[in-house]
Amino acid sequence: MTVTALIVAAGKGERLGGDIPKQYQVIAGKTVLRWAVEAMSAHPSIDHVRVVVGAGQETLAEASLAGLQVGHLVEGGAERSDSVLNGLRAIGEGTVLVHDAARPFCPPDVVDRLLAALDGHDGAVPVLSVADTLAKGSGGVLDAPVDRKSLLRVQTPQAFNVEDLIYAYEEAGRTSATDESTVMLEAGLKVATVEGDPMLEKLTTPADWSRAEALLSSRLVSRTGLGFDVHAFEGDGPIMLGGIAVPHSRGLAGHSDADVVLHSITDALLGAASLGDIGEHFPPSDPQWKGAASELFLKHAADLIRNLGGLIDHVDVTIIAEEPKVGPHRTAMRGKIADILSLKPEQVNVKATTTETLGFTGRREGMAAQAVASIRLAH
Ligand code: CTP
Ligand code: MG
Repeated sequence: MTVTALIVAAGKGERLGGDIPKQYQVIAGKTVLRWAVEAMSAHPSIDHVRVVVGAGQETLAEASLAGLQVGHLVEGGAERSDSVLNGLRAIGEGTVLVHDAARPFCPPDVVDRLLAALDGHDGAVPVLSVADTLAKGSGGVLDAPVDRKSLLRVQTPQAFNVEDLIYAYEEAGRTSATDESTVMLEAGLKVATVEGDPMLEKLTTPADWSRAEALLSSRLVSRTGLGFDVHAFEGDGPIMLGGIAVPHSRGLAGHSDADVVLHSITDALLGAASLGDIGEHFPPSDPQWKGAASELFLKHAADLIRNLGGLIDHVDVTIIAEEPKVGPHRTAMRGKIADILSLKPEQVNVKATTTETLGFTGRREGMAAQAVASIRLAH
């Protein structure tokens, strides 16, 4: 049986707020919608992913989903249930996992549990128990306690047969149901519960967003990368150093702009993320990088880390040269590097040393730079 994940993303995200609906806002390096789709696409039991988007949101959705295989976007409706039904009709048959884009971090084992539970049931939903004491109340006073033992918090994704679920929605007529299990139960169908996951909490309010960010960063581990680069003096200055033009009587030889500082930081970042080195990403044999501004390379390395949901904590670089003097340019370099990496200047350090006239730097044949980058990345 074909399994399709149907991700509904046609809401307005009014409770969260912001300039654009929450599903198009970026959390930990990617839009909420992209996280949601990638989690489903990566699951080996899921054959297809379809996405329902609001009318007029196609451009935002396409930018969010660039490079992912999601079939044609389906247009949503006024209520969540309208959006789901439009999606179900576009899918037509098979097993469907109906999922909110607003629950972007679906652990794969939840999907395993749901699909296993479909055997013998008309549907399956992930649930969490209620931890707080529950009570009814009105007018600012409590009326009566509520026994929480049989109460469950129901999450998505929810697994059903597509035709059963269309039938249940058609039986329900226009409905403001906030999930599929509600209409399935109303239609008399049997829905199994499986264990849900705190990672599936819905991003509804700004407090949910902050909690999700904290949860995500607590799952990241620190990683360190080392970078080293050398360029020989050749021709006339100025030279590019840390992304700024530094006046000097001599220039530096190189295929790109020969910025030893940015090259060493780029390699440190790539190293920390185990993504090889600058030469693999920007081969010197490739004519398109001739004379290239090295800030392109550095920005690319930072983007790769952020696309993996990673954070850059700090970079530290040592310039090794007898000349030119780095001191007068240190603050500008720090600011420029921070700018390229979207960091605060306090997260960047630039220092310099001579080699006491020893070696190739001591003989003023060239310059070197060494960098260390500290990042956080998922295991
Ligand atoms: N949704 C949808 N179509 C609608 C309403 C909601 O596809 N007409 C989707 C949302 O995009 C979200 C999921 O249903 O992924 C759960 O809805 P909710 O968290 O309420 O999102 P919004 O409706 O966008 O937020 P709000 O209610 O705060 O405006
Ligand atoms: Mg809503």
